[in-house]
Amino acid sequence: MDFRLTDEQQLIQKTARDFATQEVLPKARELDETGRWPASLVARMGELGFLGIAVPEELGGGGADYLSYALAMIEISKACASTGVIMSVNNSLVCDPLLKFGSDAQKQEFLVPLASGAKLGCFGLTEPSSGSDASNMQTTAVRDGDEWVINGSKNWITNGPHADLIVVFCNTDRTKGAKGTTAFIVPKGTPGFEPQEPDHKMGIHAAHSCTIFFNDCRVPDAYRLGEEGMGFKIAMNTLDGGRIGIAAQALGIAEAAYEKAVAYAHERKAFGAPIAKLQAIQFKVADMAMQLDAARLLIYRAALLKERARTEPSLRHSQQSATAKLYASEMATRVTHQALQIFGGYGYSKEYDLERHYRDARITEIYEGTSEIMRLVIAAGALKGGA
Ligand code: CAA
Repeated sequence: MDFRLTDEQQLIQKTARDFATQEVLPKARELDETGRWPASLVARMGELGFLGIAVPEELGGGGADYLSYALAMIEISKACASTGVIMSVNNSLVCDPLLKFGSDAQKQEFLVPLASGAKLGCFGLTEPSSGSDASNMQTTAVRDGDEWVINGSKNWITNGPHADLIVVFCNTDRTKGAKGTTAFIVPKGTPGFEPQEPDHKMGIHAAHSCTIFFNDCRVPDAYRLGEEGMGFKIAMNTLDGGRIGIAAQALGIAEAAYEKAVAYAHERKAFGAPIAKLQAIQFKVADMAMQLDAARLLIYRAALLKERARTEPSLRHSQQSATAKLYASEMATRVTHQALQIFGGYGYSKEYDLERHYRDARITEIYEGTSEIMRLVIAAGALKGGA
């Protein structure tokens, strides 16, 4: 197995790193403190091709592979986890299902502007009373001639307050459970599509999420994404990709905390020498380095499998994506905790970024499937003999 990146992957990684360090990082603390939406960074990500990295060039995207997407996610999330998740939602949760399940007309109307950065999307699955139990949704879509009438609400919708469209999942037949779910594309401005004010959260303050109400919201049948009843599988398939993006986000956050802790361990003196000389610190550094390495390999494997699935559509990588997300997100919680510990009281201070990384890491264990759901997905695969 060759772990070297291709020239193209290295170029995308470097472009993302330069953008992250020169343009994103200088704003990251202020974005966290004010909760301001990073409009100019979102526009720059569009210009750099980061909002549709793995979408073919003829459809407005960057034409790169999914590993390149993960590499860019790691770099950008390392600077600012909010900017990272805005990017990941557009790539994984909106462009990806449109690419896989959209009609040619939908690709031209919606995917091209989304992938080129002219528009931004969001993904509506979660509801106030169904997060993990995703197929138990209450939002309905009822057919009326050539139109569908959507009623209900979705919440925690990342990018929701600013998105130009939503891919939303609705119940279209209550008697059929998961098979009664259908996906629709609803453009902003459609009467009855009503995004609310941004949520107040513990971290990722600049990545605005909100509740969205649908009140007799009418869309044409031409905006149905995929077949009637196929919505749940579209959602799950999409999340198999999205979880790689969140794993990459978690790795980026953890790497940022780790690198700061290592630098600090060389600078800070205690008992007459830099604390890096103390075995107590060395053991923490070793544990962190090992876990970062393991997360990176799991992410690379899942991204490479997703790339293979492009030409082998029957290839499922649910278990490998869930493994990468579960490990990377729980690792990010542990590593940011240990990095903050190395900083001692300074880590707890608002003057340094450690407490931001610590808060931002926590959400990666929750969104796009909690750690508990990841364990269910992994167990389902493992009990069938998967690894
Ligand atoms: N790909 C394709 N099909 C899939 C699939 C996948 N990954 N996973 C399941 N399916 C299919 C199954 O094969 C089954 O089809 P058949 O009946 O034809 O066999 C059907 O879907 C139903 O599957 P299950 O019986 O396994 O479904 P379930 O109701 O038991 O749910 C679950 C399974 C894993 C718990 C699922 O509900 C789940 O992943 N829940 C978590 C939801 C989640 O991640 N939400 C995050 C919201 S998005 C977000 O956070 C965005 C943001 O803003 C950042």
